[in-house]
Parts: sequence; C-alpha cells; structure tokens
Amino acid sequence: MNEAIVIIGQAFWFMLPAYVANPSAVLTGGGTPMDLGKNFIDGKRILGDGKTWRGLIGGTCAGMILGLIQTLIVTVFKSSDWSFGSCPYFLVTIFCLAFGALLGDTIKSFVKRRLGIERGAKVPLMDSLDFVLGAWLLLILFSYSWFIGTFTKWHILVVLIITPFLHRGVNIAGYKLGKKKVPW
Ligand code: CTP
Ligand code: MG
Repeated sequence: MNEAIVIIGQAFWFMLPAYVANPSAVLTGGGTPMDLGKNFIDGKRILGDGKTWRGLIGGTCAGMILGLIQTLIVTVFKSSDWSFGSCPYFLVTIFCLAFGALLGDTIKSFVKRRLGIERGAKVPLMDSLDFVLGAWLLLILFSYSWFIGTFTKWHILVVLIITPFLHRGVNIAGYKLGKKKVPW
C-alpha cells in the first residue's frame, strides 16, 4: 500500500515539468506561429496557428523553472529517490521533460493537420498523451540512464492512467478562466 502511494507520488512529481509546460504554453503563447503561416505539400498548414514560438519558449522555460525548484527541494530534503539526477545532468532531464512535452504537442499538431483535423478540434487520447510521449522520447534519447533507473513499469502505468484525467481537469479550469477557447 505504502509502496503504491510512493510510486503514484513519484510518477506525478517526475512528470511535473512536462505537465506544467503545456498550460504555460497556453498562457504565454501568441504571435508568430512556428510554421510561419506556411502550408505543407498537401496544401494544409504545417502546424497551424495554435503552435507559436512564444508558447514553445514560454512553456519550456516554465517547465524548467519548476524542475529547478523541485531540484532545490530535493536537495534540501536530501531525498535522492525524488531527484532528476546528479548535477549538472538534472538540467538535461528537466529540459527533456519540458521541451519534450511541447515537442510531442507539436508533432501531434503536425499529424492532426495531415489528417485534416482543424486547429483546436478534439482528438481524445492523442491530445493528452502527446506530451507524455514527447517527454519520454527525449528522455530515452538524452537522459537514458536516469529514465531507466527512475521509471519502472509501474510509474509508466500510473502516468498513462492519471495524465488524461489531469489534462481534462486543467483544460476545464483553463476554459473557465477564459484562457482556453474550448474545454479540452
Ligand atoms: N500554444 C502556443 N504555442 C504552443 C503550444 C500552445 O501558442 N507551442 C497556445 C495556442 O494559443 C493554442 C493553445 O496554447 O491555441 C492551446 O494549445 P493546444 O491545445 O495544444 O493547441 P490547439 O489550439 O488545440 O491546436 P492543435 O489542434 O494544433 O492541437
Ligand atoms: Mg487543443
């Protein structure tokens, strides 16, 4: 029982920089779109107006700042089981989580546009797991030993289960606060 609570807590804790990157992109986004308004060879937008440079940079910075605060907390409490890795490698891990989340989100938009799905249209699991998969992809590529040493199959399972619910909750909140046009 106790062990299960630790796994759920760790899964949430380790994903926090990725979780925060997405809504931060919503708050900081706007201005020049990442695809500069250009179309792909299929005549549709490469990414669409929902992916902007400001959102990408703002979201990455916000996720990394949270990761740094978490690292500070872990250092103060000397709880290495909750750390993002040793200095300076934790920076790579935090970057992979924050930037990877937005990279996953961007790849998702690219796929949505190719499938002819409008900007902002809802695609249930794709919209909530894109940033998890993006973060994990970068971790496997650039922070492999931390990822393998930290995420057990149970952590992965917990993340896959809790993320769609968290995503839904945050988006409803964002919609009610008038920060998002749609509640998803
Ligand atoms: N946003 C941004 N830049 C990013 C990611 C998000 O500016 N890199 C902002 C945009 O204002 C976007 C909003 O956050 O409209 C919500 O993000 P998201 O749901 O990912 O985009 P959608 O507008 O739904 O577009 P898509 O259909 O391409 O997912
Ligand atoms: Mg959306």
